[in-house]
Amino acid sequence: MKIAVFNGSPKRDGSDTLRITRAFLDGMCEYAPQEITQVHAADKHVEYCTGCFECMHNGGRCIFEDDMREILDLMLESDLLIFSFPLYCYGMPAPLKAVIDRTLPLSGMAMQKVGDRYEHVGQADYSHLRYLMICGCGFPNSRHNFEPAEAQFRLMFPSGHTIITVPECPMFGAPEAETVTRPRLGLIKKAGYQYAKTGEIGAELMSVITSPMIPEEQYAQIVNANS
Ligand SMILES: Cc1cc2nc3c(=O)[nH]c(=O)nc-3n(C[C@H](O)[C@H](O)[C@H](O)COP(=O)(O)O)c2cc1C
Repeated sequence: MKIAVFNGSPKRDGSDTLRITRAFLDGMCEYAPQEITQVHAADKHVEYCTGCFECMHNGGRCIFEDDMREILDLMLESDLLIFSFPLYCYGMPAPLKAVIDRTLPLSGMAMQKVGDRYEHVGQADYSHLRYLMICGCGFPNSRHNFEPAEAQFRLMFPSGHTIITVPECPMFGAPEAETVTRPRLGLIKKAGYQYAKTGEIGAELMSVITSPMIPEEQYAQIVNANS
């Protein structure tokens, strides 16, 4: 399978969220060989969308000649797009949002009703694509935290999406937390294997990998003691 990983963390390879994504990919690769391309959004020259809508009228040509050309090609030739990012202010970090905004050339201006909502009619065929969001965050709570990012992802990619949200994510970068993070990464690897095999992650496994690794209060105490 051709997989494009878009890392939204400005920490590039030092991203704690990317540790989760790597474990997931290890599991996918254990099931079958995968062709993986990784893109650090923060390293790409991607201008902000100006909202001119030129691309929606002219077959998908943006007014900017920047790295977004190759990113759109990569997206269309992939089977799976993985968006790996830390939660920033209940959403995605700005470099990744800039990439997402600039996918507008894939859509045309015309809109169609699908179910009870409207979508733009595609200018490119991306019906083969599946989408995975892997999002880590710094608070121990998932509720009242991940909802905006999850809702945005579902609306952007109404079908073929899977969402993994992981609280207490900075623990993955703390060597002293390895006794709890190593087994968790093992379960995330298992989820990757399952996803590669079946296209899904079982509800029970999903519930475990998205839960806090240590009790919320204990995590908050540790963070506060080191602040
Ligand atoms: C600008 C900024 C905004 C953040 N907003 C949130 C937030 O809304 N909720 C949360 O739980 N953590 C938030 N965090 C914490 C990060 O999500 C957390 O540190 C994450 O583990 C970083 O992952 P990374 O190493 O992959 O970049 C924020 C961090 C930054 C720098």
